[in-house]
Amino acid sequence: MASVYIETFGCQMNEADSQYIADRARASGYEIAATLSEASVVVLNTCTVRDNAERRAYGRMAQLKQLKTADPAIKLVVAGCLAEQDRETMRDSVPFLDGVFGTRELGRLGDALATWRADFPEDDVDLSEERSLLRAIGGTGDCVGDAYAHARAFVNVQRGCSYYCTYCIVPHVRGRFDNRSVAEIVAECAKKLASGARQLTLVGQTVNAFKDSASGADFADLLEIVAALPGIDRLTFLTSHPKDYTPKLAQTMGALGARGILEPRFHLPVQCGSDPILRRMNRKYTVAQYREKIAMFREHCPDWALTTDLIVAFPGETESDFEATLALCDEMAFAQAFMFVYSPRRGTPAALWEQIAPEIGTNRLKRLASVVDAGVRAWHERKRGTIVRALVQGPSRKDRTKLAAKTGDNVTVIAPAGDLDESVLRRSPWLDIRIDDAFTWGVSGEILGVASRFDAAAAPVARATIDLLAM
Ligand code: SAH
Ligand code: SF4
Ligand code: F3S
Repeated sequence: MASVYIETFGCQMNEADSQYIADRARASGYEIAATLSEASVVVLNTCTVRDNAERRAYGRMAQLKQLKTADPAIKLVVAGCLAEQDRETMRDSVPFLDGVFGTRELGRLGDALATWRADFPEDDVDLSEERSLLRAIGGTGDCVGDAYAHARAFVNVQRGCSYYCTYCIVPHVRGRFDNRSVAEIVAECAKKLASGARQLTLVGQTVNAFKDSASGADFADLLEIVAALPGIDRLTFLTSHPKDYTPKLAQTMGALGARGILEPRFHLPVQCGSDPILRRMNRKYTVAQYREKIAMFREHCPDWALTTDLIVAFPGETESDFEATLALCDEMAFAQAFMFVYSPRRGTPAALWEQIAPEIGTNRLKRLASVVDAGVRAWHERKRGTIVRALVQGPSRKDRTKLAAKTGDNVTVIAPAGDLDESVLRRSPWLDIRIDDAFTWGVSGEILGVASRFDAAAAPVARATIDLLAM
């Protein structure tokens, strides 16, 4: 059977785009392959937000050359932000590609898949020998083909970004803000719910700046509308910008959280804790304003997880600027933080400024991580002894006899799968897990029950220990 394997790198925008590519592929008669060795078409959906994302994508292309050599019938295409950035040069620098599709050319990629479909006969010849070689290449990134992918749906509410933070490539590869209409968003959410989505994530780079010019609806209104859709289970959104966080939105979040629809987490990137640096980053807020926004958030959502993004060693960052970031992180005790050493991106203003030595960046990242990790660990420790309800992700990467799942506040939970298999979990993807241990990466425990919806009672699962006692 003709199948498409999609490897996704980068952020929620690429996740949403990969789901679109998967939908187009299915509509043209492909299956979505769970492994590279089954693929007729391989799509790399790439990111270029930092230099290592770019290097990783080119490294992956070089690896995949083996695949073209083993089976020239396989089509290899590159999409996403790196494809957009290097669209003029990529066909020459990576000549074995069958297509390069920029961020505005996803429709064209869908059309190409439809055209290529006829090249892959229904009763595909047995390629297992050549293909077994491909298993050695393995898989990286996230694949949208796993058994539970349909449970997590990403719906774009806005494309691009017009904020032009001085370090950021995103506006250059994704274009300026372009909000979709409420009607279009609602239709897509309804479609995803009908095909089994349990968790809807509304995505955009500054999702809370959303505005529908036709209806005048803002992001808080949109949340209310989507939360009222029939069949909705759980809702969340990514990423918010501090500047656009309003009292109305804080209030709406609290109300929808209390109704059990909105997941209890909020990602609000602060980037750094020093005003001169924030100004040079063009972040449009001060540390004091960020604190005010968090006070507003805490008033309505006292127990939610607050998460953030941080950049160290931005051009001009002094030791005392950096210490201000450490102090802010200590104060905020983020439940999770994504931390990065500043990486110069071609065409952005900060790339032209005097740079900080890499070893200073590495050292600051390490010091920052030790402060942040203490808060993260403490957040996870609070779960010990409680029972959490988490959405299944699939087998744990490290140990296939265990399942990985995510709690509403986005903490990873690992627990032995026992007898639970795909046939049960596709219908009942919510797991009730008793938390026995806490780590920096997440928590672990034992699965007590499964449920088909977030608000439904759980059906207990048979436990090995009980079985043993009964023997
Ligand atoms: N729109 C989101 C973030 C998008 S990019 C926002 O405004 O918060 C995700 C994260 O990558 C950013 O929050 C930032 O922390 C980091 N990032 C972006 N460009 C970077 C660069 N050039 N170097 C290092 N980190 C960067
Ligand atoms: Fe990049 Fe800033 Fe836009 Fe976020 S708000 S995508 S960091 S330019
Ligand atoms: Fe990367 Fe593009 Fe997202 S550059 S972070 S995948 S918008």
